[in-house]
Amino acid sequence: MRIDIISVLPELMESPFQASILKRAMQKGLAEVHFHQLRDWSTGKHRQIDDEPYGGGAGMVMMIEPIDKCISELKTQRNYDEIIYLTPDGETLTQKIANMLSIKNNLIFLCGHYKGIDQRVRDLHITKEISIGDYVLTGGELAACVLADAVIRLLPGVLNDEQSALTDSFQDNLLSPPIYTRPSEYKGLKVPDILLSGNSKKIEDWQHEEALRITIERRPDILD
Ligand code: ADE
Repeated sequence: MRIDIISVLPELMESPFQASILKRAMQKGLAEVHFHQLRDWSTGKHRQIDDEPYGGGAGMVMMIEPIDKCISELKTQRNYDEIIYLTPDGETLTQKIANMLSIKNNLIFLCGHYKGIDQRVRDLHITKEISIGDYVLTGGELAACVLADAVIRLLPGVLNDEQSALTDSFQDNLLSPPIYTRPSEYKGLKVPDILLSGNSKKIEDWQHEEALRITIERRPDILD
């Protein structure tokens, strides 16, 4: 998978891809992430990429020209499956969306800033608008990292134990059951006996019941 990320602050996104699982995914050639400094496509004197909104109002708007030039150039190099704008007014990111994106080959993520981007960019190029939650960040960069992480970890070969992505919270509309490791007792706090029983059928039933209980308690909205 290749992800091209367009931003005025690409340096903000470097470290998440330079550690641990994402780093290994890059080294193994399973994912490529390329950053594009939007100002490189500005034709303005001061590499300007934003301007005042027509009709007035507070805040600046990201101009169409640099974004259109950048995306158009990328489009001459390969076909993109989705061109995604990270924005608080987009569709809220879910595991289902991450799953769907993980089977694509080429993605563009566009990070917004200020009041947002000229509507004509959305009309012309954007195929999907994604929000990572109902709150406003200073820009789309951290959201782009969150989305890239959620998608890249699903690529075959990225996780050591491939099963583990399948048993994540949300993968089957259930949160995860409680988990434990050694020691079996710590300061009087005991691991549930069932998990020490060695009876895999009973353990599986218990885990499912617990997952159901926790989901009903915390997130009844995600239950089928
Ligand atoms: N940009 C600013 N806030 C955002 C959010 N919540 N999700 C995605 N992009 C954003």
